[in-house]
This record gives sequence, C-alpha cells and structure tokens, in this order.
Amino acid sequence: MKVVRKAVRGLGARRTRRANFQCFSFVHQMADTPVSVPSVLELARTIVAQAVRQGDTVVDATVGNGHDTLFLAECVGPSGQVYGFDVQEAAIAATQLRLRERALAERVHLHHGGHERMRDALPPDVQGRIRAVMFNLGYLPGAPEKTVMTRPETTLAALDAALDLLTPGGVITAVVYPAHEGGREEAEAVDQWAATRPRDRCRAYTYAPLNTLRPAPRLVILEKVAGHQLPVR
Ligand SMILES: C[S@@+](CC[C@H](N)C(=O)[O-])C[C@H]1O[C@@H](n2cnc3c(N)ncnc32)[C@H](O)[C@@H]1O
Repeated sequence: MKVVRKAVRGLGARRTRRANFQCFSFVHQMADTPVSVPSVLELARTIVAQAVRQGDTVVDATVGNGHDTLFLAECVGPSGQVYGFDVQEAAIAATQLRLRERALAERVHLHHGGHERMRDALPPDVQGRIRAVMFNLGYLPGAPEKTVMTRPETTLAALDAALDLLTPGGVITAVVYPAHEGGREEAEAVDQWAATRPRDRCRAYTYAPLNTLRPAPRLVILEKVAGHQLPVR
C-alpha cells in the first residue's frame, strides 16, 4: 500500500513538474512573440469570419477593388451568397475579374449602384437573414480621381437598411477614415448613428488606435440582438 501511495505521489510530482515546465515554456514563448494587435481592417474580418457560417448570405456595401468581396465569398462557401454594391463601374469590373480568377463569381451578385438602395436590390427571401454587412468607406484606393467617395447621407441610409436586413446575431462592420477630405464628418455621423441605435436592437462598439499623428481609421461594429437578450441598463 505504502509503495502504491509513494508511486502516486511520485506521479503527482512528475505531473506538477511537467505542468510547471509547460507553463514556463508557454510564458517563455509568449515573451518571444511580439504582441500583435489587429489593424481595423483585420479586426473587421476577424469579427465577420466568426459570425459567418457556410451557406450564409452577406453583403459587401462598398466593393471597391473586391478584396472584402473575395473574403466574404470564401467565408460563405459554395452554398452561400454575397451581394456587393459600388457606384463605380471600374470597381465592379475589377471585382468581377478578381472573383472569376478564383472561380468564386457564381456565389456573388454585384450591383452597380449605391448601397443606400440595398433594401430594393436584395430579394425578399434573404431580407432579415443577412449574417454580415461590411462597409469600407471613403474612396477607391488607387483611383486617379478621389472625387467619388461615400457620403454621410447615403452611408447612414445604407446603415439603416443594413441593420433592418440583418438576422439576430448578425454583424455590421464599418471602417471610417476621419483624415480624408470629408471623412471626419462621415466618421462622426457614423459614430453618432451607432451610438444612438436602440439598445434592445443591437450592441455598438468602436475600435481605433489612439496615439497617431493624424486621425486614424477606426472600426465601428454593430451586433444585432433579439430584444429579449439584452439586459436593460
Ligand atoms: C474604400 S473603397 C472600398 C474598398 C473595398 N472594400 C476593397 O476591399 O477593395 C470605397 C468604395 O465605396 C464606393 N462607394 C462610394 N459611394 C458609394 C455608395 N453610395 N454605394 C456603394 N459604394 C459606394 C467607392 O466607389 C469605393 O469603391
């Protein structure tokens, strides 16, 4: 019996030593790994990737060069659907090409038109079932003319539509650029809009670096919830 107890004590000590070693090597590894805080664009994608399942329907409200459209098409898988909007024909064409190159065009419906018309453009059977809507505001990166850009009035109309179209548990991400021409007004309008959404409908968050030389891009996030899930504060 004594021998068994001694063996068990020995095993316990070995386990503790192993656990201590594993803990030490984890801390050691952490110390060697630089802390990686995501950029606003990376965080937007992380949040969307967590919310979206294969087969979902999602919206890219500002298609631009198609990077987010491609990302969304990968998230929803072959049985899902992406609806994309942009007012510039060049953006739609570039995105169509990007999707064809990856054989993802079939699951994406691109609309050459403003996102403020999103409600009219989406078929009735997907309304209220949208899992994510991504906005990346401002102007088309790389475009020679920076005159075509998102504007507060149409952006707010689109955000209103997006919140109506979301399923409970769905998310809206909006990257705003306060340093751009006209961007500060738009960023403030989006903040104000998000901050004043009813708390029994959604939770609103913002994420931004603070100690920057110029006003940095920031991310506004909305998560739609069913009314009864929210505590009244
Ligand atoms: C910052 S870019 C988007 C970048 C894009 N998400 C990407 O991954 O490449 C903003 C885009 O919004 C578009 N835009 C401007 N007003 C719009 C509107 N009312 N509806 C939809 N898109 C609009 C611009 O043409 C531009 O292509």
